[in-house]
Amino acid sequence: MSSISETLVTGVKTSVHPPKRLLYGPGPSQVYPRIYQAMAQPVVGHLDPYFFQVSQGVQKGLRAVFGTENELTIPISATGSGGMETAISNFIESGTKLALFVSGFFAERIGEMAKRHGAEIVRLEKPWGESFSDEEAAEFIRRERPQVVAFVQAETSTGVFQQSKALCDAAHEVDAIVIADCVTSLGAMPVDVDANGIDVAYSCTQKGLSAPPGLSPITISPRAQVRLKERKSTNRSWYFDLALIQDYLTVSHRYHHTASATLFYALHEALAIVEEEGLALRQQRHQKAHVRFVSGIERLGLVMHVAEGHRIWNLNTPRIPEGVNDAKVRAYLLEKHGIEIAGGFGPLAGKIFRIGVMGPLATDEGVDRFLAKFDEAMKETA
Ligand SMILES: Cc1ncc(COP(=O)(O)O)c(C=O)c1O
Repeated sequence: MSSISETLVTGVKTSVHPPKRLLYGPGPSQVYPRIYQAMAQPVVGHLDPYFFQVSQGVQKGLRAVFGTENELTIPISATGSGGMETAISNFIESGTKLALFVSGFFAERIGEMAKRHGAEIVRLEKPWGESFSDEEAAEFIRRERPQVVAFVQAETSTGVFQQSKALCDAAHEVDAIVIADCVTSLGAMPVDVDANGIDVAYSCTQKGLSAPPGLSPITISPRAQVRLKERKSTNRSWYFDLALIQDYLTVSHRYHHTASATLFYALHEALAIVEEEGLALRQQRHQKAHVRFVSGIERLGLVMHVAEGHRIWNLNTPRIPEGVNDAKVRAYLLEKHGIEIAGGFGPLAGKIFRIGVMGPLATDEGVDRFLAKFDEAMKETA
């Protein structure tokens, strides 16, 4: 038997043979075959002129999906949590007052990071699965007068999409900047950074964009850039220091870190696919698939956890019916059909399924195929 390195060096065989999966979970989502082809192209150096050409195309495509004119719109070399840490470490320093909207797991993660960077945190909380009304969001911000506001636009732990125009308006009234977690919404739902007035938005590549994980797109408004220049202390994180990353990717092109050409190719291809389909049409396709999913799942007797009008289109959270063992259903789907879905966690553990319908799977056929297998799984595991 040959050693691992021998099989890798020959280039004929690979040492990995992943099983075939259909990714209907909260992410990673099903990757477009074209993206795999882009990723198989030869690696160039992270300082190669071709790399910066690809990077420029990526920046342009990201402005389009974020819905922004922000000059500083780049991918961070990290997963979504790295985008979160970039946002927090650059805009929070010791004593910064942060107003945090909390009704799910990822808002808690923002709070955890902000605490490590010395934020003084005030929270407005709701049960997991609820959203904040315009009035309560604005009232909280006007009362607390924070320097930074943070919220999760698409809370993957619950399935809630949080509207943000009124929240951002109130934040600007008190001269706060707004950080939005758009990890699950980007590429599938309208993020509308400029129209909403979001100052810092970060995301990922492995959900609405249907590329592999590994990069975290982020965009920074001119207002937030001014705030960055006014910082009193140096960012405690060297790797996520926006000034250093910006200099490498967009100004001097001097080495900061060895960015992955392969992941940049993947994101470039994902954004090209969005452009070819048209962003608005792509969002409508996700909405249509969501509506079809909800009527199908309700026909099977399940109830959606989140109220209509507040749901993420590309991540559905039906409640687990009485008597159904969600672990058994998930295991059946994976073993019999190679279908991945997820369950709830925290206060929603054992209470909801988390079913993503995104990217190439967000079609009538993608929804119908899933619902048929899901129905079978519930019956077979009863
Ligand atoms: C809303 C939200 N924020 C942040 C993250 C963290 O992203 P990652 O797992 O890519 O680090 C996730 C991951 O699922 C998420 O759903």
